[in-house]
Amino acid sequence: MIAAEKVRAMHRERYKSDCALFVAPGRVNIIGEHTDYAEGFVMPAAIEFATTAAISPRADNTIAIYSENFVEERGFDSNALPKRGSGHWSDYPMGVAVIFAGQGHKIPGFSLTIVSDVPLGSGLSSSAAIEVATALALQWLLGFELPRPKLARLCQRAENEFVGANCGIMDQFISANAKEGCALLLDCRDLSFRMAHIPDNVELVIANTMVRHSVAGGEYKTRRAEVEEACAVITKHRPEVKFLRDATLEDLAKWGSEMSPNALKRGRHVVSECLRTVAAADALEAGDLKKVGRLMAEAHTSYSKDFEGSCEEADIMVELAQGLPGLIGARLTGGGFGGCTINLVEKAHAPEFMAKLKELYKAKTGIVPEIHCSRAAGGARAVDQG
Ligand code: GLA
Repeated sequence: MIAAEKVRAMHRERYKSDCALFVAPGRVNIIGEHTDYAEGFVMPAAIEFATTAAISPRADNTIAIYSENFVEERGFDSNALPKRGSGHWSDYPMGVAVIFAGQGHKIPGFSLTIVSDVPLGSGLSSSAAIEVATALALQWLLGFELPRPKLARLCQRAENEFVGANCGIMDQFISANAKEGCALLLDCRDLSFRMAHIPDNVELVIANTMVRHSVAGGEYKTRRAEVEEACAVITKHRPEVKFLRDATLEDLAKWGSEMSPNALKRGRHVVSECLRTVAAADALEAGDLKKVGRLMAEAHTSYSKDFEGSCEEADIMVELAQGLPGLIGARLTGGGFGGCTINLVEKAHAPEFMAKLKELYKAKTGIVPEIHCSRAAGGARAVDQG
């Protein structure tokens, strides 16, 4: 996390004003991939990488947003908010402002400084962290406070409707609702959730393949369409099945021949992944780490073979982790086609695990990976003003 004092000083220097500070974390998903938009289950945890947003009111109607990461400022007129994003980094904070305006709030002028250490394009939800940090900042400015699940939903809408990325609810939800030391099992249908404690002797080792990932990209969209195609076939026979969350492996066996081969495979991934995710939460709560690891391995195979959401480098990273000391479970995390693997590793072995994985991956691919270690972090919050 970036030091709050640094962001405060940066904001003061640029905008000559005191500010309120808010922070929202990125995430890893331990298990439950591409199940959120099928109204299924996911089990993410927040990580220690986060976005900090500093905000102060202004006397004029200007919305000034400065990103330290892009070293760029953008200005908008609060009386003429844009309707759609423009493919620019400022779409994420502006999307939240526009969605809040759509809820009936009059958005005044404000200055916003955004600083993030969530690696961009790495499948760690850098976008959601910006949205949620901005949402907290705007709530403060406007003087209201929404329940966190509702706040997460509005941030998701900012991304769907303004940015134009058709993501599910997982990333915004975990950023807004995470609890330190815990994974969160979320039912994406009704947003009910429960926390599963991650034992203190387990570290989250995040291994970046350095292959860039994007939710706005074409692959995410095609996979989502295939998942919906699989569901539509089952709905024809069983109208009560509205999302793949409601379908069973038997349904797929029975009516799979009416789907394109790809839709059948994607469907098999989603339906089996929901089962694995709930089982993994139960196992984590019961302290059965062996089982959690086994389910993560199965989830990766399904993600890679049936969903075809992995890439060669991510498969290599997961494969190389298998023989290393302290590994509990490894899989590709997030939207896919690159990004990071999540490895649950016994704390005592974590330094050795990280060093060896780095060395082996470099030897095999010629790419130097970034490997980080994190505890499960808390959710978005106001930074202590004291
Ligand atoms: C991205 C999206 C999420 C989810 C994952 C895949 O992170 O933002 O909503 O669909 O991909 O599990």
